[in-house]
Amino acid sequence: MRLETEKYDNRIREIKRDLHRHPEISFREYRTTRVIKQELESLGIELLDLKLDTGAVALLRGKKQGPLIALRADIDALQLKEETGAPDASENPGVMHGCGHDLHTASLLGAAMILSDMREELCANVLFIFQPAEEITAGAQLMLNHGLFEKYKPDMLFGIHNVPELPVGTAGVKLGALMSAKNNFSIKITGVGGHGALPHTTRDPIVCAASVINSVQSIVSRNVDPRDPAVLSVCSIHAGTQDNLIVDELTMTGSIRALSDGVMQTAIERLNDIVRSTAKAYGCGAEVMFNGGPPALVNDESMYRIAKTAAEKVLGPDGVMDIRPSMGSEDFAVFMKHVSGFFYFLGSGSRTRENYPWHSGRFQPDEDYLAIAAQLYAQSVLCSMQKPLSL
Ligand code: NI
Repeated sequence: MRLETEKYDNRIREIKRDLHRHPEISFREYRTTRVIKQELESLGIELLDLKLDTGAVALLRGKKQGPLIALRADIDALQLKEETGAPDASENPGVMHGCGHDLHTASLLGAAMILSDMREELCANVLFIFQPAEEITAGAQLMLNHGLFEKYKPDMLFGIHNVPELPVGTAGVKLGALMSAKNNFSIKITGVGGHGALPHTTRDPIVCAASVINSVQSIVSRNVDPRDPAVLSVCSIHAGTQDNLIVDELTMTGSIRALSDGVMQTAIERLNDIVRSTAKAYGCGAEVMFNGGPPALVNDESMYRIAKTAAEKVLGPDGVMDIRPSMGSEDFAVFMKHVSGFFYFLGSGSRTRENYPWHSGRFQPDEDYLAIAAQLYAQSVLCSMQKPLSL
């Protein structure tokens, strides 16, 4: 049976449209944070003070004993020009909610409305986590650094991301790896420059880099088990000034993605080895720097069972499908290193018009997502309680 949420639907839509008009980039979500806090306060939900500049955490105490269930939404927008022409298009030039975090924020507030109305019957406490700076995969760690799980350590954690490729009214659930670990790298190769006509007097970092770029292709093809997905891409290369001058130095950057942390570790080690030994072979020096990034997001079996049940209660069994993983990354995985978690992919694709992907200026998810997501968050709590309500 579905939760009755119609009385909240208009308010959730209003919040989404307001947030969509006023998008804010990572760690600058000041107005967004005010909107979230006002809404939570109006529901009588206790705000916790983590001394964060942006983002919010709140605790709803159920009337009866039970586990602490955390629900998380991300709240930040992108540096992206909106091209939807929608009535609620961004009024902040060059910034857009192009990944739907406005939907995530509004629907988690919707869940707060639903659950606060049910607090007399709740056999659980609910921790609402509104996380800043997901787009730069930095907000989750910052919240942990501010003691997010110190005083209130959840027994379970749920997160949802909208997916425009799935039609609204459907959900994708996956057991095991759902999203990839990420580690971006930069490489500096140092040679000895000179005249383009006298290469024998130089140590050419460009020829060395060409060899590095080819050799690192063997990491995915020859070091990683072909059953374990991984990507290693060199995405930028910078060197040189004019056509008869061999330079001293070259830099390149790229990204590694892997669906397991073990594969990520292998790729990092092999990249280091290949760059250093190739540079040595060409008489050059090399430095490899890794920026770090979130681990792989892996849904475990017990959480998968609860999540699938919750999704089927909201969408019916035909609305829930097992899906393939994404090579994108999510810092929800950082929370999951500390707490049993589950991350849903929930359809936001319109059934009547063309859908554009995440991070497109024309990204325009279907607003019917909002009520469904609010229900899915709430239902995840109900399905996690030791004595589930007979809904
Ligand atoms: Ni996103």
